[in-house]
Amino acid sequence: MPRWSLLIPAAGSGSRMGGKKKPLLRIDGKPLLVHALAAFRGIADIVIAVPPGEGLRWKRQLGIDATFVDGGARRQDSVERALVAAEEPTHVLVHDAARPFPGKELVKRVMEATLKVGAAIPGLAVTDTLKRVDALGLVTGTVPRGGLWQVQTPQGARADWLREAFARAAREEWDVTDEAMLLEKCGRPVAVVDGDPRNVKVTTAADWKLLKGRGRR
Ligand code: CTP
Ligand code: MG
Repeated sequence: MPRWSLLIPAAGSGSRMGGKKKPLLRIDGKPLLVHALAAFRGIADIVIAVPPGEGLRWKRQLGIDATFVDGGARRQDSVERALVAAEEPTHVLVHDAARPFPGKELVKRVMEATLKVGAAIPGLAVTDTLKRVDALGLVTGTVPRGGLWQVQTPQGARADWLREAFARAAREEWDVTDEAMLLEKCGRPVAVVDGDPRNVKVTTAADWKLLKGRGRR
C-alpha cells in the first residue's frame, strides 16, 4: 500500500506581490492555503514549509492539523526540508501554497499516474503564440510552440526518487524551479497528465485581483 505525504512549500516572500504572504491571503474568508488543502482529503501527513520562525503563528492562523517546518532560501530548499520531516512516505505530492484551486479530479489524475510511472505532473499545452522579446520591448523572434507545455502543481513522485534527486542536487549544486526538473536531471521518467486552467498560481497583484473577482469555484 502506498503511503502518501503532502509537501507544501509556503515559505516564499511574495516579492512580486509587494511582499504579501500569499498563502495567508483570504478568499471567501479562508486563506488560500486552506482552500488548496480541500482538494487533498485523505492524505493524513501534511508538511508545510513556512518562513523561518513563523510555524506557531501560521499554525494558529490556519487552524489546520499539519507539521510546520522552517523553509529555506529557495523553493527547492523548502521542499527538501518538508520531505525530511515527512512520515516515511512511499510517495509524495508537492503543491504550491499559492495555488488555491487544484481540484480533486486533477489531484487524482496526478496520484494515479505517479503510482504507474513513478512521477507525474499536471500540464496544459501552450496555446498562445510565444515571442522572444529584447530589453527594449521589441520582438526578436517567434518560438515554435509545438510540444511546449505549461506545468502546474501538485507534482507527484516516488519518495525514494525524490530523496536521491535532492542528494544529487546538493552535491552537484543544481538550481531548479520544480521537483520534476530534479527527476529529469536524474534520468527518471515523469508523466504529464491534464492540468486544469482553474488551477492558477497567484504570482502578481493582477493574478490576485482576477482571482478575487471570480471568487470561489
Ligand atoms: N516558496 C517556498 N520557499 C521559498 C520560495 C518559495 O516555500 N524559498 C513557495 C512559495 O511560498 C509558493 C511557491 O513556493 O507557495 C511558489 O513560489 P512563488 O509563486 O514564486 O512564491 P514567492 O516565492 O512567495 O513569490 P516571489 O517569487 O514573487 O517572491
Ligand atoms: Mg518565488
